[in-house]
Amino acid sequence: MAVTRILDTAALRAIVDEVGLDSLMDEMIERLRTGFRRFDPEQVTAIDRTGFWYEKPALGLVEWMPTMEAGGRVSIKTVGYHPTNPTQRGLPSVMATTSLHDTTTGRLVSLTDATFLTALRTGAASGVATDLLAPIDATVLGVVGAGAQAITQVHAVSRVRPIERVVVYDADPEIAATFVARLPLDVAVVTADAEGLDHLVENVEILCTCTSVEPHAGPVFVDRPHIPGLHINAVGADFPGKTEVPTSMMVQAFVVPDSARQCLAEGEAQVLRPDQLGPELWELVAAGDASHRQELTVFDSTGWALEDLIAAELALDHADRLGVGVDAELQAVPVDPYDPYEVVRPR
Ligand SMILES: NC(=O)c1ccc[n+]([C@@H]2O[C@H](COP(=O)([O-])OP(=O)(O)OC[C@H]3O[C@@H](n4cnc5c(N)ncnc54)[C@H](O)[C@@H]3O)[C@@H](O)[C@H]2O)c1
Repeated sequence: MAVTRILDTAALRAIVDEVGLDSLMDEMIERLRTGFRRFDPEQVTAIDRTGFWYEKPALGLVEWMPTMEAGGRVSIKTVGYHPTNPTQRGLPSVMATTSLHDTTTGRLVSLTDATFLTALRTGAASGVATDLLAPIDATVLGVVGAGAQAITQVHAVSRVRPIERVVVYDADPEIAATFVARLPLDVAVVTADAEGLDHLVENVEILCTCTSVEPHAGPVFVDRPHIPGLHINAVGADFPGKTEVPTSMMVQAFVVPDSARQCLAEGEAQVLRPDQLGPELWELVAAGDASHRQELTVFDSTGWALEDLIAAELALDHADRLGVGVDAELQAVPVDPYDPYEVVRPR
């Protein structure tokens, strides 16, 4: 019998109950670090995402993000992004599932709720970048866009830097107002209004931008004098025309993309030439290069498919260890592999 382990929300909750959110974030950061350090383009194929983009019935997209580790597994994340979901339908903007397949048989090993895992790994990727690129003693973190991703951004950054104060701005003051209640951390949180946005940019040591700004409506803040060594995790730009960071800052900054090809097509790097980019994050990690902490730096995060493989395997490893999840027969396995009707024949 071939079974597929389904990791639904209840299974993820059981994992978090057992492991704890801080430890799980630490482990996600560490697994990304290890995965990046070991990344070998000859062994791991991470195909740039593609998908369907539409304006009706609601502005949105459904994309798929495939990765294969040679001799290991194939993971395929399908992810929807519908920015009016939270305010109009009571649903997250980003909703995802990841399937893992074994490469001996093609069998579907697991199917995992990846809405939580996407937020976790996106935060963790910024944690990895922040650790190499931000001043070591940074205590003040700014956030522009206070939605779902903002929570894991702040969480992850606070695991790698001694954050004491978070200044948060959202174009929707009601969302900014609920931020502190959603944050699983004991830090001082100050909410900035539109007038306070310049002040926020001028006074933070690390800045995370994670907005649902529409294509061609960016940037989401203006180029202001900033603290030397400012590090920006630019997370929201992941679509052609969508940008959050002023071009003048991108041109000055040491820019680290998660995937250069993807960032030039749909990330902050759309405004740059390829030769204006620094190394990809995995290369920076592999080199252990922390020599840019005194410079203006940008981690251009568009979401890399390898991160989703690593996140799904993290969840599956914990599920196997704890015996959580539901085993389902999703793929017919007849005794006679040449008889597809066997499994539906009356017994
Ligand atoms: N890089 C990655 O790997 C990755 C992963 C997941 C999501 N994302 C992207 O991150 C962004 C945020 O995702 P989310 O799940 O947090 O969405 P969300 O809808 O939960 O939150 C987005 C927030 O941005 C605010 N906003 C919109 N325009 C703004 C502006 N100009 N200034 C300030 N705030 C503004 C909205 O009011 C909302 O509160 C999306 O663009 C999404 O595509 C990237």
